[in-house]
Parts: sequence; structure tokens; C-alpha cells
Amino acid sequence: MTTLKHYLQFTDLTADEYAYLFERAALIKKKFKAYEKHHPLVDRTLAMIFEKASTRTRVSFEAGMYQLGGSVVHLTTGDSQLGRAEPIEDSAKVISRMTDLVMIRTYEQAKIERFAANSRVPVINGLTNEYHPCQILADIFTYIEHRGSIQGKTVAWVGDGNNMANTWLQAASLLGFKVHVSTPRGYEVDEKLAAGAHGINAESYQFFSNPMEACRGADLVTTDVWTSMGYEAENEARKKAFADWCVDTEMMAAAQPDALFMHCLPAHRGEEVEADVIDGPQSVVWDEAENRMHVQKALMEYLLLGRIA
Ligand code: CP
Ligand code: NVA
Repeated sequence: MTTLKHYLQFTDLTADEYAYLFERAALIKKKFKAYEKHHPLVDRTLAMIFEKASTRTRVSFEAGMYQLGGSVVHLTTGDSQLGRAEPIEDSAKVISRMTDLVMIRTYEQAKIERFAANSRVPVINGLTNEYHPCQILADIFTYIEHRGSIQGKTVAWVGDGNNMANTWLQAASLLGFKVHVSTPRGYEVDEKLAAGAHGINAESYQFFSNPMEACRGADLVTTDVWTSMGYEAENEARKKAFADWCVDTEMMAAAQPDALFMHCLPAHRGEEVEADVIDGPQSVVWDEAENRMHVQKALMEYLLLGRIA
């Protein structure tokens, strides 16, 4: 029996645990590509709770859990008592008595923390307003696959100071790289939020008012939608404020010649990124999306079984 471990923020795991997960994900991916069976989670069930839309998160967790030999239960606000005001604490107590692992995509981080506090099984953050740790796990694995260690490298974040930006800051502090952040005025990263439960090192990030300056010399340039889920009412104001925060070929030219481009997807060509960049030779967005599945398989296996020698 391993101790109960949740994955609610990127800083919930140590650098050493990430080193293990990246190695494990590479092995799991290799087996998947070779059609080799890998069934460590036979008879285990993953509950997936979605209070926001998803394509990648749903497919990667669902396909991933089946590939590990387990099964899944899919719940949404609309088709469960979650949408009819059953307290999240009660839902957590019930769902975690019947399943082995829970993945939640919701609004406030506080909600997933309340769920975890009442859960008998590990809980994974599948995106909240504040953080998106599974995505950054996939992004760093993708960087490593293409370029080797991310330690000492520079990531340029161009766009909203959102859940992705917060999580990049957590990852940089923990894994020893730098993030250059450029956001429009009024959409800055909230440093307290980014610091989260375990704190982050202020020397691992730097703010730039000019997105081109943030990209200068970067090893990876990355961005995200101007309007995240839950903020749709601000769409028009955001379109105006973010007009200069479109990753274009000039920004990519300011980065290192071998810089990669990433985007967690879904993307809006002509808004946060030019088609020539996301569909261009430096973009690794399809590997990034696929890798969600491989890293999350490693994560689920780790949370349930611990390290496998
Ligand atoms: N990147 C990501 O989390 O995508 P989905 O919203 O499609 O799950
Ligand atoms: N920041 C985006 C990411 C979507 C995967 C959102 O929260 O909607």
C-alpha cells in the first residue's frame, strides 16, 4: 500500500520524482508504439469529472487508463449530482469509495482541494482556473524528447497570465530553468497564485512588457488562448488588449535558431499565434498533445503503485 499522494499543483512532486516520471513516460511511450501490452492497472478505475469542456484531457486520460488495463467513469456537471448542488465533500467521499483514482477539471482550485481533502484515493488536477500541471508535464517531456534537459534553458511565455503561465513558473522554479513572461497590462501573472502551496523561486522568472524582448534568446516559445474557459464574458476586451501578443515569425526569429514552439491547444490561428508559426517547422504541438497521454499514464501508474524498479 503506497501513501496517498495527490497531483493538484506542479509543485506537489519533487524534481527527483519528475526525473523518474519522464524516464517512465519514455518507456511507456516506447511500449505503446511497439503495440506491447502494459497492464499495471488491471481492475483499477479512474473517475473523470469534467465541469469544463475538453478534447485532449478526456481522450488522453480515457485512452491512457484503458491502455494500462483499467477502466474509466466519465462524469460531467450536467449528468451527475455535481450540477445539482451536492456538496463536493460528499461527492468526494462517495466517488472515492468506488474508484481508485480521480481526475477533475473544474473552475476554482479551492474546489479540487476540498475534493482531495475528502478523497480516499489520489486526485489529479486536469485543469483549474489557476493551474494545469498535466499539460506542463507533457510540455517538458516534449522539450526533453526534442532537445534534452530543460535545466538552464529559457522558456518565453507570450500572452495571458493564466493557469498555464502559473504552472510554467512553478515548473521553472522546481526544475531549474527560466521563464520570460510577457503579458498585456491588466493580464499579468499573479505571483502569489503562481507561488501556490509550496512557494517558488523569484529568480526563475522575469517579466517583460514587450513580447519580442521576452522571446529574445529563448529555447522555447509558448502561448495559449487569449480567453480561457470561464472568462468568455471578457472576450471582446481581451481581443483588443492582446492584439500585440500574437506569436509571429519575427518573435520566433528573435529566439534561438533551434527554438521550439508549443501551444497546449486548442489554438486560434491569427490570434495568439500566426499559422506560419504553429504549422511551421519549429512547432511541436502535435507531439505535445500526444505526450499528454504518455506522461499521464506514467503519472497514474506512479500515484497508484509508486516507483516500479
Ligand atoms: N490542452 C488541453 O488541456 O486540451 P483540452 O482542453 O482539449 O483538454
Ligand atoms: N488556458 C486555457 C487552457 C485550455 C487547455 C483554459 O483554461 O481554457
